[in-house]
Amino acid sequence: MSATVLTAPQSILTEEAHAKINLYLHVTGKRPDGYHLLDSLVVFAGAGDRLTYFPDSTPLTLELGGRFGATLGADAAGPDNLVMKAASLLRAASKPGARIQGGRLVLEKNLPVASGIGGGSADAAAALRLLNRAWHAGVETSTLLQLAEQLGADVPVCLASQTARMEGIGEHLSAGPVLPDCGMVLVNCGVGVSTPEVFRKREGAFHARADLPTRWASAQDLVDSLAQQTNSLEAPACQICPPVQDVLTTLAHLPEALLARMSGSGATCFALFSTPDQAYQAAQHLAEQQPDWWVWGGALV
Ligand code: C5P
Repeated sequence: MSATVLTAPQSILTEEAHAKINLYLHVTGKRPDGYHLLDSLVVFAGAGDRLTYFPDSTPLTLELGGRFGATLGADAAGPDNLVMKAASLLRAASKPGARIQGGRLVLEKNLPVASGIGGGSADAAAALRLLNRAWHAGVETSTLLQLAEQLGADVPVCLASQTARMEGIGEHLSAGPVLPDCGMVLVNCGVGVSTPEVFRKREGAFHARADLPTRWASAQDLVDSLAQQTNSLEAPACQICPPVQDVLTTLAHLPEALLARMSGSGATCFALFSTPDQAYQAAQHLAEQQPDWWVWGGALV
């Protein structure tokens, strides 16, 4: 018996845009232009959007699909979409000899939008990676990072989609501690919070830069260490949007949950577990209890 292996034509390329989670986020200061200085440990989850490119000679367009794409409306796929802005920046930065084409970009939006897990930023970073490859644009990593910075504070860290410590307003990246095997549950209850509003609402002293080890041997070590840090934006987000507090309380009470915290400027929150399987089981259970919530559970990437 012979098996037929079906492969996509080589010209169709896909990139995953993994969810970005801030395990802690300290606002350490404020720049004269109003942007906030941060110290954050960023990790990436198996959950993500997916960007696929079908090149041809027609002008480049973007189509949105997936659970959250349909709710966004036609304008969301216009030139202001971060994916299209990323394409324009990359086109302008391409090396001579690049094979720039048009065609269709199809973005499957599986992550809730504007929710503190970097959906739009991860999409923009995926577009930079994907089109650099597809167009043979030859843009080096250092230039890609500069383009990413122009697209938003969270886009540089999403370029590599690897655990990283993020400082400055998001542009200073360094290797984070080595993480132990662990699992994560992500929950978004369907409410949106505005990032600028959350930053504006933050008050009180700035948090200090965290003191981190080079590695954590176990999930419990990680959690003991994270318990000394916080998300400076959690309190203001809960004030603006009280359902975030309900999500945090629910996550903290999940069996075997080790820590519950909000990611970024919210409203998505996460819980950490000792293993991906524990997280997966907890997410299944929670999704049954709260069918209107977006719930995901599994491993980090
Ligand atoms: O850069 P990005 O578009 O993601 O930021 C959205 C808004 O969040 C900014 O306009 C700013 O008000 C706020 N922000 C901030 N400090 C940061 C990142 C974002 O004040 N480091």
